[in-house]
Amino acid sequence: MPVITCIEDLKQIYHRRVPRMFYDYAESGSWTEQTFRENSSDFDDIYLRQRVAVDMTGRSTATQMIGQDVAMPVALAPVGLTGMQSADGEIKAARAAEKFGVPFTLSTMSINSIEEVAEATTKPFWFQLYTMRDTDYVSRLIQRAKDAKCSALVITLDLQILGQRHKDLKNGLSAPPKLTPATIANLMTKWSWGIEMLGAKRRNFGNIVGHVQGISDNSDLATWTKESFDHSLDWAKVAKIKEEWGGPVILKGILDAEDAKMALQVGADAIIVSNHGGRQLDGAISSIRALPSILDAVGDQIEVHLDSGIRSGQDVLKALAMGASGTYIGRAFVYGLGAMGEAGVTKALEVIHNELDITMALCGRRKIDELTRDILLVPEDFGGRWQG
Ligand code: GLV
Repeated sequence: MPVITCIEDLKQIYHRRVPRMFYDYAESGSWTEQTFRENSSDFDDIYLRQRVAVDMTGRSTATQMIGQDVAMPVALAPVGLTGMQSADGEIKAARAAEKFGVPFTLSTMSINSIEEVAEATTKPFWFQLYTMRDTDYVSRLIQRAKDAKCSALVITLDLQILGQRHKDLKNGLSAPPKLTPATIANLMTKWSWGIEMLGAKRRNFGNIVGHVQGISDNSDLATWTKESFDHSLDWAKVAKIKEEWGGPVILKGILDAEDAKMALQVGADAIIVSNHGGRQLDGAISSIRALPSILDAVGDQIEVHLDSGIRSGQDVLKALAMGASGTYIGRAFVYGLGAMGEAGVTKALEVIHNELDITMALCGRRKIDELTRDILLVPEDFGGRWQG
């Protein structure tokens, strides 16, 4: 077994083990991938303040996100097709998160269904909702999440139409994979993934198959989004969904201070500063670059979380010290899952926890609420103003 010291180690094993179609699905951004790249590289422009001879005993990364206790403020982000990265991947990731004490968010586009994940876990998880034209289907989905005792609804606002990822089109991304000569050739080199997948509870989209009609191909994510997603989604509809849910709501995909103010007005409990991992608007600013202006606009009235680009505990610390009260990892846990199943997700969480804990100590801080802006050197143009 190789020694795993960082998220990049997990990514390399993941790359070798999982079919190209699903590796590419996770590891791509839209169009030129500028935003996808800058989500991570912008973290490198922020410097940390080294402090010495500060008592570093009694450290803790424990805190709360939306009033729920977390072992560290790092939730697992909703990721589509997780159960194609490893058999029953959503169940494995949810179990790893539950044992570690961090929230797991199940995507509408998951393979394992809400019910399957609920049955395999003992603590409430969060459910991520996409809004569809078929409002009865959306209502049923909300009811299913309630029945499963999900403890927060994460509504994604930045994907009503799908940003183009070149590789997904070229690979003919679908769940389960369609057996073309190219797919078969690639699958033959991924035999351990294939054997494991034969025993999976499910290999299709568990939240749609059997629950929604009128889609011409419900194994194809691009077709599904194109034919079903509600292009007329607006703030009034968001408010209606919030009312229908009746519990804690987190709005995901906020990258602009004006939108953050609207989220506040509709009564969200938290927002996630996110550009969907660079998978939607290519050319958008990175999440970490957007964070300061959003915090300035609403940070004293609502919890502000951040996703997109986090690959280390140092990244987490930078987001928290800037003022975020929670962060999410998507690709970083998927690498672990594809590499080693549930143990790999646990490993990803351990790596990030260890990096966060030691970095906190070396900055002379012992608790999450001691992570403040004065331990960062942030480029002046972060949080800069739009023209006009
Ligand atoms: C879905 O959320 C995607 O980014 O593919």
